Amino acid sequence: MKLLITGGAGFIGSNFVRYWLEKHPGDSLVVLDKLAYAGNLENLAEVADKIKFIRGDICEPLEVLKAMEGCDTVVHFAAESHVDRSIKDPGVFVRTNVLGTLVLLQSAVTCGVKRFHHVSTDEVFGQIDLSSSERWTEESPYNPRSPYSASKAGSDHLVRAYYQTYGLPVTISNCANNIGPYMFPEKLVPLAITNVLEGKKIPVYKPGNQVREWLYVEDHCSGIEAILEKGKTGQTYFIGPDNPEYSNLEVINKLLKIMGKGEEFIDFVGDRPGHDQKYALDHSKISKELGWQPRYGLEESLRKCVAWYEANREWWQKVKSGEYLDYYEKQYAKR
Ligand code: NAD
Ligand code: TYD
Repeated sequence: MKLLITGGAGFIGSNFVRYWLEKHPGDSLVVLDKLAYAGNLENLAEVADKIKFIRGDICEPLEVLKAMEGCDTVVHFAAESHVDRSIKDPGVFVRTNVLGTLVLLQSAVTCGVKRFHHVSTDEVFGQIDLSSSERWTEESPYNPRSPYSASKAGSDHLVRAYYQTYGLPVTISNCANNIGPYMFPEKLVPLAITNVLEGKKIPVYKPGNQVREWLYVEDHCSGIEAILEKGKTGQTYFIGPDNPEYSNLEVINKLLKIMGKGEEFIDFVGDRPGHDQKYALDHSKISKELGWQPRYGLEESLRKCVAWYEANREWWQKVKSGEYLDYYEKQYAKR
């Protein structure tokens, strides 16, 4: 197989590249990535000689066509991915997530790719009340509430439209919050771990009772693998963990315990506008139809993350410089 991996220099994309090469050493991989702020060639350093890397923008049709030439499978990770940034600057989210996905779909039709897999998020379904035990299914209505989730919802709709209108063989996965190595430290878990390692406090949005589902990134990769190998075209599959429900504060307290620190490292800051209260996925479809199960529980996932960030200080210290410092100052200034 020859795969085009968009966004393969980002957090999940680079983990997927490593995962795929280990499991499918005979396959050829082309990575197309613009190297936006979260894209980093160091994330691919271990496998640099085993892939073809193209620096390019998914919004540029000629660059995309050239990269896709000869590929039978596209796995589309490239996106602007952080909710807080989407609140400050929504335009770039619409450009990359909506227009970029459209350009890829058009190219995929032209090139006659055999599978276009679109990587999406649980956030497109909006929020669940904290008091509710509802879990979303693949049939739940879309109800995005942030510019990030609205732009991802737009991309999901385009992917579905290309299946119906042009017969493009697509699949979609909507996944829970990921954690793992090479995650950009603007997101809660790597931000918390690296701040504590630097002796700084963790900014927790008040009141800290919001609920997310946390999946170790390797489980996301194996879920996508199951869909590529056994999934039906035109179908959407949820990928999520089997953990009990934990609030953000409970997750942070677990992390602090693993790191041998106490609650004095928590800094309650002003809440995110329009903050989604809770996400919860019912992943029984992928489990029943494709036999996929998550391998890691929350405790083990957090321990693995702490160990990785402790062992890779150089990586995150470099990442937490330049543009990041500017972002951090603005994001947490008046909170
Ligand atoms: P990330 O921000 O770490 O990586 C995104 C990558 O896309 C970067 O390498 C960046 O350089 C690249 N990129 C951005 N704009 C581009 C453009 N115009 N052209 C080419 N490349 C471009 O994000 P991530 O956390 O790895 O997320 C990957 C995908 O998974 C996204 O589609 C996201 O919506 C989805 N997802 C993420 C999570 C999560 O918890 N992080 C959960 C569910 C779904
Ligand atoms: P985040 O990692 O940004 O992922 P998402 O918003 O896409 O789920 O945030 C996870 C949760 O943590 C979310 O409820 C917001 C909260 N959060 C904080 O409390 N403090 C922070 O500094 C950040 C970035 C997030």
